[in-house]
Amino acid sequence: MLLLSALRIIAVAATFLSQPALGLLTPVGHAPSGKPIYVVPNKSRVRQVGRELQVLDAKGALIHTFTQSRNVQRKAVRSHTHTHTRRQGITTIAASIPLTNTNSSKLEALNTTFVVPPAPKRFDSQLLLIANSLVATDEHGVPYGELSTVIQYGATALIGGSYWTVLAQFEWFPDAGAILIAGRSGVDPTVSPGTVLNSSIIHDPSLGNPNLETWYMASFAGSDDLPQLGSLYDTPGISQVATIGMEEEGAVEREHYPNAESVRFTKTNLLLTEGYPEVKWDIAVEGGSEVAAGAYVTVDKDGAEGAEITLHFGN
Ligand SMILES: *[C@@H]1O[C@H](CO)[C@@H](O)[C@H](O)[C@H]1NC(C)=O
Ligand SMILES: *[C@@H]1O[C@H](CO)[C@@H](O)[C@H](O)[C@H]1NC(C)=O
Ligand SMILES: *[C@@H]1O[C@H](CO)[C@@H](O)[C@H](O)[C@H]1NC(C)=O
Ligand SMILES: *[C@@H]1O[C@H](CO)[C@@H](O)[C@H](O)[C@H]1NC(C)=O
Repeated sequence: MLLLSALRIIAVAATFLSQPALGLLTPVGHAPSGKPIYVVPNKSRVRQVGRELQVLDAKGALIHTFTQSRNVQRKAVRSHTHTHTRRQGITTIAASIPLTNTNSSKLEALNTTFVVPPAPKRFDSQLLLIANSLVATDEHGVPYGELSTVIQYGATALIGGSYWTVLAQFEWFPDAGAILIAGRSGVDPTVSPGTVLNSSIIHDPSLGNPNLETWYMASFAGSDDLPQLGSLYDTPGISQVATIGMEEEGAVEREHYPNAESVRFTKTNLLLTEGYPEVKWDIAVEGGSEVAAGAYVTVDKDGAEGAEITLHFGN
């Protein structure tokens, strides 16, 4: 996840607890960051309401509520260059565009196409997440959630290993927040190198009350076998950041990256209600000095329609 301008971030004085009002979800593992991971039913959706994160099933029924604990002190602080202090150890290398949803102009689609790269030559517990993401901030400008389609190389306690898996996931940012993954527990949705994936995050006006709520679904086109997950961005004026790139943890040598020069994101479309905006992709690295193995991103064809972005893995 990546935020470009000086944004406020959260400093958390206590943990955020999962206190299920409806205890249907239990953690299936933990990410390297320590956040608990939950598997949620395919096509679930999440909605933040105040201090709560509600998980709804595909039909909109509430199946779980996460509650931010009351004694948390939220301190908004300024970060000069990046916000990765929330995500120790994780480095993000991405191209991104900041957006603001209003009643008349919303993000309608963030689509891109890429080919699953060969696995790295060496697996030393590194974690690589190549993702198409939409980050939202709350009314205080604090990022609270990131909805993504992801291919993951490496393992969390839940899923994966020395191969690629496809996921639709929502990460709730409070430091001890949660990562929700759509799919079937215990089943690794593996994906082979060479597979062409069309990934998309699309506004779905058929969900909820379209006058009041803006729901997005993250999915891979063309196959119902692949997981889907949704989230709500409901406040007009809310800020979002569309990003395409990689998050990594523990990659310190070239051989920890895919055994290819690059991954190319083609047919990248960022469509708003009124059409394709005039935009330029920004490139940024969060946790810059930690990019030990030298990955970087270039924008080869700029703009909102048919953009081309390349994630390079160094020499
Ligand atoms: C946006 O739409 C909502 C719901 O229709 C309405 O309550 C609100 O006043 C609108 N805001 C603006 C700035 O038009
Ligand atoms: C985005 O992808 C979806 C699913 O494949 C497709 O229906 C939609 O037309 C695409 N939109 C754009 C702007 O590329
Ligand atoms: C992926 O997108 C390409 C063009 O954008 C299209 O030709 C192809 O059919 C799509 N594949 C799937 C599985 O939707
Ligand atoms: C998602 O749901 C569809 C049916 O709606 C199903 O065909 C598909 O297998 C499910 N995918 C996963 C990962 O469970």
